Amino acid sequence: MVTRSAVRGVGGYLPERIVTNADLAEVVETSDAWIQERTGIRERRRMGEGQAVSDMAVEAAKQALERAGRTAADVDLIIVATTTPDLTFPATAAIVQRKLGAPIGIAFDLQAVCSGFVYALSVADGFVARGLSRCALVIGAEAMSRLMDWTDRGTCVLFGDGAGAVVVEPEPGQGTTDDVGLLGFALRCDGNKQDLLYVDGGPSTTGAVGHLRMVGQQVFRHAVVNIAEAVEAAAANAGVPVAAVDWFIPHQANLRILHGVAHRLGVSEDKVISTVATHANTSAASIPLAMNAAVEDGRIKPGQLLLMEAMGGGLTWGACVLRL
Ligand code: ACO
Repeated sequence: MVTRSAVRGVGGYLPERIVTNADLAEVVETSDAWIQERTGIRERRRMGEGQAVSDMAVEAAKQALERAGRTAADVDLIIVATTTPDLTFPATAAIVQRKLGAPIGIAFDLQAVCSGFVYALSVADGFVARGLSRCALVIGAEAMSRLMDWTDRGTCVLFGDGAGAVVVEPEPGQGTTDDVGLLGFALRCDGNKQDLLYVDGGPSTTGAVGHLRMVGQQVFRHAVVNIAEAVEAAAANAGVPVAAVDWFIPHQANLRILHGVAHRLGVSEDKVISTVATHANTSAASIPLAMNAAVEDGRIKPGQLLLMEAMGGGLTWGACVLRL
């Protein structure tokens, strides 16, 4: 017998305000046709002026808890993967704990940019499978609109705001690939590639929040190769062939990357969950938001084998195999 970490409930939150490609064409020199052809993005959401990332995180968390049959009173661990925290400190997770009304427990943020949700699941697995948490909330929540340089058409059209969450709980298993729960991970970071994707500000350097900077073509090239390697490593770590996976839930950066990775792995495109058209790149929120969409429309079902993969600033990247 082993203790697995099972994903029990998923939730998502998208701000009300929709920003279309046509809206952005009024801000920078771009077009709906260019954005759709190069990225697959049609629209994205933008957080309201009075909102904070913790507000979006709380909405996603409430939905995940309800679907898991739990309440805030059950939560003993909160990990928020975010690169756009409410404040430099305290951690957004601590603010979420307060707003949810969850009891004293463990709460902290995790910063791995777009790979944050996969990293956070791995950290939660460390707590849950060792008996240190009985009800963990793993949240990806981002207001990427707050990091944009609205004069840079190469980046400002790509990102959106939102939050997604899952509840992770202990589950007895046999130690086989039939077990429900997190089965295998591959996490990577190459800090030498910082210049390809970063934010040019921070508390200990400029004292300002800064703007996102990206060498898009080079990130694109790394993404396809690196993600495919991590997917194969996570599948090997889980002990399952990539071909056995029912659904691929990629980080939603660019439709061409999603299809490029699928092609490299020999995975049919109809197994790939894609929400990039309507969410754009919501960084750490994108995987749980995509999972939420596919659970809600009935594609993802209990018992199925899922593979999540991501790549982001750092450069960081990684993948996770789980059975729902
Ligand atoms: N509208 C119109 N034209 C544009 C736009 C725009 N929004 N943006 C760039 N262009 C122009 C460029 O100026 C360039 O013009 P030029 O040839 O006259 O110089 C031309 O389009 C081609 O630019 P490229 O950068 O070569 O275009 P590319 O096909 O590479 O697409 C893109 C750019 C969409 C950014 C792509 O490189 C990409 O998706 N990269 C990866 C992004 C990503 O996955 N990031 C990872 C995660 S993000 C995170 O972790 C925070």
